[in-house]
Amino acid sequence: MLLDALREQLHLTGTKKGCDHGQCGACTVHIDGQSALSCLTLAVMSEGRAITTIEGLARGEELHPVQEAFVKHDAFQCGYCTPGQIMAATALVQDRQQRSAAEIREAMSGNLCRCAAYANIIAAIQEAQRA
Ligand code: FES
Ligand code: FES
Repeated sequence: MLLDALREQLHLTGTKKGCDHGQCGACTVHIDGQSALSCLTLAVMSEGRAITTIEGLARGEELHPVQEAFVKHDAFQCGYCTPGQIMAATALVQDRQQRSAAEIREAMSGNLCRCAAYANIIAAIQEAQRA
């Protein structure tokens, strides 16, 4: 699977393995700019497509606005779900729509957080979509 290729062959361990069954969102990456679950994606099907992982989001020392907002709003505790949350959130805000908290919650419902940092995650995404 793409998740294993990223982690085991390319040593890009920022993308996390949670459930490995498409249910938690920890493995979220971008494929051609769209959010995708790498644990459900065959690596061979990704050939020739642009894959972005959490490692590719910042520009050098400059964090992506979604990353900055997560830091500012303390939108994590253990941090295990955070790369997936940020990748999903980044794909969400790229259309520049201003979503309500309820709409963000619905759109992010595939990304689980066992630490229940949901309120802060929503606040971070609301700030990022204004940025
Ligand atoms: S590890 Fe892919 S959805 Fe949970
Ligand atoms: S911050 Fe711990 S699982 Fe989300």
